[in-house]
This record gives sequence, C-alpha cells and structure tokens, in this order.
Amino acid sequence: MAGAMKILAISGSLRATSNNTALLRAVARLAPADIDVELFGDLGNLPLFNPDMEVADPPVVARFRAQLLAADAVLIASPEYAHGITGAMKNALDWMVGCEAFVNKPVALLNASPRAVHAQASLKETITVMSALVVEEASISVPILGSRLGEEGMVSHPDISRVLREMLLALSLAFTRLRLESAELRVAP
Ligand SMILES: Cc1cc2nc3c(=O)[nH]c(=O)nc-3n(C[C@H](O)[C@H](O)[C@H](O)COP(=O)(O)O)c2cc1C
Repeated sequence: MAGAMKILAISGSLRATSNNTALLRAVARLAPADIDVELFGDLGNLPLFNPDMEVADPPVVARFRAQLLAADAVLIASPEYAHGITGAMKNALDWMVGCEAFVNKPVALLNASPRAVHAQASLKETITVMSALVVEEASISVPILGSRLGEEGMVSHPDISRVLREMLLALSLAFTRLRLESAELRVAP
C-alpha cells in the first residue's frame, strides 16, 4: 500500500523451521493494510564482517543497509545461543556499525522464548549503542518455544494474533510520535 509504514523484520536464526522466523512471518501476515512488514532474507548470505571489506561494500551488505535505511522501523527476533545472540545476528549488526542505518530507528525486540534473557539484554545493549531507539512497549515476549504452533498456528491463535497486532500498533505509534517530535524540533525557533 502506498504510504504504508515500512517495517524490516530480521530473524537471527538461519534454521529452515525457525520459531523466530515463523513468528516474524506471522507478524507480516497479521499486519494491517497500512503497515508493510518485509522479512530480510539474506542474513545467512552476509559475509563474515571484516572492516577491511567495508570499502568494497559487498552487494548483499549494500542491499541490507538500503533496506534498513528505507525502513521506518525494525523488528528483530533472535534466538539465544550460549547466553548470547546468534553469530549470524551479531555479524549482521557489526556490518551496520559504521553507517547510519540504525540511528534514531525505532526497533522492537521480540522474544520467542522466556529463557532467552541474556540474548535479549545483549541485543538491546548492542542496538542501543548503535543509536537505535528500542520501543519497550513493542518489545514483547511471545513464548512459543516448544509450542509447535508454527506460522499458521500463530496467525489463527486468538491470543497470540491479538498480542502481535497490538505489538505492531505500539511500534507504529512510537514511529509516529518520534516523527512528530523530530518535526517539532525542526520548526522550534
Ligand atoms: C547452539 C545452541 C545454543 C543454545 N543456547 C541456548 C541458551 O543459552 N539459552 C537458551 O535459552 N536457549 C538456547 N538454545 C535454544 C534456542 O535458543 C532455541 O532452540 C530457539 O528456539 C531456537 O530458535 P529458532 O527456532 O528460531 O532457530 C540454544 C540452541 C542452540 C542450537
């Protein structure tokens, strides 16, 4: 839809049957017509971050940066591996440290497992230091680990679908509020 709010969704898992990816796919299907949720599909194709390669700007990295810059907000769901975020997720974020992609970007962190407290804290710390704005009211825990619900099950589950729609609403309200605040700052004498 023209003029729709654009959200880029990033799953930190490369597994084909990932709970986190299924969660983000369900969010995309539940989004109202004025919110467009696109799943970033190249996390596993990003080369391992090497500052020496930044000048060359590999095409997949350039696409990732362009998609982030074009997004009004970002939604991240990452599993916890050994009390941290996944290597794939951290690698993707490291590529974006040297650019403005996350600066003042509203970001919601979805947690698919009640046990994944270390990864959530670490992810929050990393994107905050990259100047992203974590939207607390949209950063919710949806404990689907072990539920075998899958994308379809989440979309049709009355409570989960409601919580996910409310999360999107909270993220879009935060985006609108931030946009108004920055417009007010621009016109202030
Ligand atoms: C290598 C590895 C390490 C893990 N370490 C943790 C951990 O420290 N804490 C935790 O709660 N879960 C841990 N898990 C479980 C995953 O976080 C969990 O299975 C998650 O649902 C995987 O997400 P996905 O379905 O999106 O791939 C680990 C799984 C793997 C494969």
